[in-house]
Amino acid sequence: MRESVVAILVTVIVSVLGAIQEVESHKDQPLSGIAIHKTTSHLHEKAYVKASPTLLGSNGQHSELVLVEYNSRKPSDDDWIGVFSPADFNASTCPGDSKMVESPRLCSAPVKYQYANFSNPRYNTTGIGSLKLHLINQRSDFSFALFSGGLLNPKLVAISNKVVFKNPNAPVYPRLALGQEWDEMTVTWTSGYSPDIEEPVVEWGIKGRDRKLSPAGTLTFTRNSMCGAPARTVGWRDPGYIHTAFLKELWPNSKYTYRVGHRLSDVEVIWSKEYQFKSSPFPGQNSLQQVVIFGDMGKAEVDGSNEYNDFQRASLNTTKQLIRDLNKTDAVFHIGDICYANGYLSQWDQFTAQIEPIASTVPYMIASGNHERDWPNSGSFYQGLDSGGECGVPAETMFYVPAQNRAKFWYSSDYGMFRFCVADTEHDWREGTEQYDTSSELVG
Ligand SMILES: [Fe+2]
Repeated sequence: MRESVVAILVTVIVSVLGAIQEVESHKDQPLSGIAIHKTTSHLHEKAYVKASPTLLGSNGQHSELVLVEYNSRKPSDDDWIGVFSPADFNASTCPGDSKMVESPRLCSAPVKYQYANFSNPRYNTTGIGSLKLHLINQRSDFSFALFSGGLLNPKLVAISNKVVFKNPNAPVYPRLALGQEWDEMTVTWTSGYSPDIEEPVVEWGIKGRDRKLSPAGTLTFTRNSMCGAPARTVGWRDPGYIHTAFLKELWPNSKYTYRVGHRLSDVEVIWSKEYQFKSSPFPGQNSLQQVVIFGDMGKAEVDGSNEYNDFQRASLNTTKQLIRDLNKTDAVFHIGDICYANGYLSQWDQFTAQIEPIASTVPYMIASGNHERDWPNSGSFYQGLDSGGECGVPAETMFYVPAQNRAKFWYSSDYGMFRFCVADTEHDWREGTEQYDTSSELVG
């Protein structure tokens, strides 16, 4: 009885939030304000951008502050610094249909940006400024470019040296999810290691006891998997490889430790740092479950970049609170509108980095929202443009959910006294549909 009530309650919450998402008007993705295709070259020999340090993550960390110093001979309040990754601007990042793009043929949005006068009130008169920008390991090198002309008519004035993480391919941002059985935990992570050459593995076990190795499967997706712009155009960025391993036959209520890695050869394995999680209670076992359910969190940058009318700034406060409450949280359900990447794929890495302390410790269960899925004629129930051309592909690849078909985001998951049933508001749920029929079985 209790089980079905909870199941219905969770389903109702998901449905109501989905409906709210449809009527809410969300502001645009900050990066969408940049007319990157219109960039023209105005390189000035006396203008410069310098970034330091050039080698990031030398102590194995996957985020670091970079000092960016710059000088412009014609400063203006709408000058801005864009962070590009990969660092090289060249035609290889332009899809074949963009012959209209002028030199310097800039076809990819920056991964983040900030105005040159941010924390430099005298920039407008001196032309001298500096920024501290927070970078995360995103499998490639970075460069910093100074633009005049504001976001709408970008004029490239100067480009910095390159900076790079010590191991750009390193396994990063593990995220746990409940599996299809109560005694199964899944761990998903991102790397630059191709599974054809390096074998993805998880080493895990009950804390203090023997550990074992489990293999991981690998997924990725290409520009052509995107349904439209900007995901297919200026927002495209290679997602790297997404690995998922299934840790099975867990003992109930036990503390496990794990690390994810890549076997490069018989003797060399690149490992992540070590993480911990607690397994589920035996189904129906008298136990207390503490679960956090929310939607629409989004992401924000700790260095204040990418700000656009305070878009999603509060997501950092929510993330901090979730981290503070981790020792009294069994699982998190982020039921749609995950990071509002809206077709700017670099933002998915930044989101998984932001939630890493949470998702690496407790199951981080997601559902699909309009900002993950909606795109005309792509199978979504609503025909809006809210996913920015992603049409669900990044969400279903970056995060594991125990659905029969991960492109269809309805599933159930047992945890202790509960069966959580998650509906997919972005696919048809009406009587007679596949979701209606299979969800009725899931609720049980
Ligand atoms: Fe939303």
